[in-house]
Amino acid sequence: MSETLCKHIAIIMDGNGRWAKKRGMPRSFGHKKGAENVVKITRAMKESGVKYLTLYAFSTENWQRSADEVAALMQLLRDYLDKEFKEIMENNVRIIFIGERDMLAKDIQQKINEVETKSAGNTALTLCIALSYGSRQEILAATKRAMALAVEDKLSADDLSAEVFSSLLYTDGIPDPDILIRTSGEQRISNYLLWQLAYTELFFTNTLWPDFEKEELMDIIAKFNNRERRYGKN
Ligand code: IPE
Ligand code: IPE
Ligand code: MG
Repeated sequence: MSETLCKHIAIIMDGNGRWAKKRGMPRSFGHKKGAENVVKITRAMKESGVKYLTLYAFSTENWQRSADEVAALMQLLRDYLDKEFKEIMENNVRIIFIGERDMLAKDIQQKINEVETKSAGNTALTLCIALSYGSRQEILAATKRAMALAVEDKLSADDLSAEVFSSLLYTDGIPDPDILIRTSGEQRISNYLLWQLAYTELFFTNTLWPDFEKEELMDIIAKFNNRERRYGKN
């Protein structure tokens, strides 16, 4: 495989509900297939040499879905962490979570703290799961932290650079995404990584998330490698 310049891919895994509907199945069936695809795409990503993968698993807005659907998604997360943790460790994958943890059930909070701690030394791939995540909320939380630091005389307005502000976000220490992929044909950002996506190349595909395969991922990485990027220069 040729070297890629891409360090970080962020994905909005959309279309599970429509995938199930097309088959006359409940939405939760689509989410189950979607979770299975997370495992496949994580494996493919490790092979591709990309170092960071950030997956939008559940947004702050998704709390407004029906109680049944939210419960099914949370159960899938528990099952994923129980079943996949062994492979995550064997594959030297570090797993981290970004989002509002306080909103999550206590057992899930404990589980994600545990998997983060146990996988912290792994180096092949960082799998970042955006869970109960909203970018405006993240930016507001960072702003509040900056204000608190200012009150304590630990940060002045002059010292608040883009770099310092980035370090106050959940994604502190993670390079900004090079590629954003959204599946299912929708062309919006849906409150995902608004600050971090400032210079990211955007790829939208009509493929529904459960059908998104390694071949399409590799195709996108190849297209990224061929795109000319200028970043504000001429
Ligand atoms: C994405 O699929 C998964 C989550 C948002 C959790 P959707 O559930 O949004 O599927 P569609 O968009 O209704 O098809
Ligand atoms: C975005 O998808 C969130 C996730 C993929 C987890 P949604 O399906 O929730 O977004 P909207 O409602 O179409 O903007
Ligand atoms: Mg959707």
